[in-house]
Amino acid sequence: MNQNKAPLYEAILRYVEKDMISFHMPGHSNGRGVPRYLKKLFGNDLFKFDLTEVSGLDYLHYAKGVIKQAEELAADLYGVKNTFFLINGTTAGVHAMILAACKEGDKIIVGRNSHRSVIGGIIESGANPVFVHPEFNNDFGIITNLTPTVLEKAIQDNLDAKAVLITTPNYYGIQGDLKKMIDIVHKYNMYALVDEAHGAHFPFHPSFPSSAIEYGADMVVQSAHKTLPTFTQTSLLHIVTDRVNTDMVEQVLAAIESSSPSYIFMASLDVVRREMAINGRKLWEKAIEVADYAREEIEKIDGFRIVDPSIINGKDIYAIDPIKLAINVEEIGFSGFEFELFLNKHNIEIELSDLQNVLLFVTIGTRKRDVKSLLKVLRSVKKKSGGVEKMTPFPVAGKQVYSPNDAFNLNYKIELLDKAVNKVSWGVIAPYPPGIPVLAPGMEISQEAINFIHIMEDKGGMIQGAIMRDDTIYVRVVDDLQ
Ligand SMILES: Cc1ncc(COP(=O)(O)O)c(C=O)c1O
Repeated sequence: MNQNKAPLYEAILRYVEKDMISFHMPGHSNGRGVPRYLKKLFGNDLFKFDLTEVSGLDYLHYAKGVIKQAEELAADLYGVKNTFFLINGTTAGVHAMILAACKEGDKIIVGRNSHRSVIGGIIESGANPVFVHPEFNNDFGIITNLTPTVLEKAIQDNLDAKAVLITTPNYYGIQGDLKKMIDIVHKYNMYALVDEAHGAHFPFHPSFPSSAIEYGADMVVQSAHKTLPTFTQTSLLHIVTDRVNTDMVEQVLAAIESSSPSYIFMASLDVVRREMAINGRKLWEKAIEVADYAREEIEKIDGFRIVDPSIINGKDIYAIDPIKLAINVEEIGFSGFEFELFLNKHNIEIELSDLQNVLLFVTIGTRKRDVKSLLKVLRSVKKKSGGVEKMTPFPVAGKQVYSPNDAFNLNYKIELLDKAVNKVSWGVIAPYPPGIPVLAPGMEISQEAINFIHIMEDKGGMIQGAIMRDDTIYVRVVDDLQ
């Protein structure tokens, strides 16, 4: 296909040039109704491009024209059967994969390292999750990936499962042995669904890990916005194999996504797809050079260690994404959380911190001089005395007393976390970092999970989904008196 074209972008330009008199949504009428303050923030032009389903611009959920052409070009570039543009992020894609693969009561095998969106999709579908425990890298204190062996055992114990959802690479760019895992899933005739939120850039340079697309997953979802220069909220859902009912996926997406998609978001997907097709290799070559330079220089500074290919072990760590800089700061006496604040004070924004590390993303927008500024700050750090605590391994999943959907349909009451042992969680509790749900609806609350939540809170993590009252943690539990 002609990857030079950007059909949606071109159609939007043509439309704006016509300067139509608008009696249509959105309520700002080509920007004319926009308050001054907003114009100050975004300029005059942005609003002209904030269009909806006006003449010639197609419908996302009934795509027949320029959106369809733009999606077909994306599918051609990624080498898949179909690509759907998502405007509700990878969250929508994860929900759609689960809803398309599982009916109420079906079993789905999922990594315990899944993002909270996986729990959301399971709640919506009424599926029963079987959690598989991922490995933990003690050195950096990072949850890595499932191993093929542990995954196969879980599959053999649950041969009636419909689908397996694998999340890899993790946030830190550490990819598991995806090919082996996908082959195992297919050996047992289940759907292989991959949350590749952190891998939308993988096809565009040979130094990146291979994508789940190349390894033959059935469906793959990628957050374009995380690593490509598209707008926040934009993602791609790829249908790779004939096992998937593409029409069903389309119907599911129409049910769960907004019926007023942002054309600004979609145009950014269209134009960036074109850019990746034409200049991707060159742009990423430069970004990798910048990241490699950063990695080499940071490693020379006393007190910092950085995740590099030496941690590859062929089991849970199979490949490393070179644009992620996961820097361990233990030896300088800071926790990752403290070090993030230190960097912020020096005008440096980072992706995230955990107990032992800070994580920085290099993108095609990162300049060598940005790295030089970072290095200057890193070199200026004075080591602190005193030990730093290590990340606690993630607790194994408690017994699933109800399916997440059944639990959600029961009433909840608010319970002191310390009194919640052996009760059933109603909500999703995900200490951030790592942002992975430690409790899901319907899961029995173990003492181990309670301890983990306390440890993460004490160390400065945010307990997403919990209720904080005067520094005391409460959670929602299924009300058994109903
Ligand atoms: C592994 C993983 N999956 C899914 C998501 C959700 O992606 P989005 O923010 O695009 O909805 C995230 C977000 O951080 C993620 O890290």
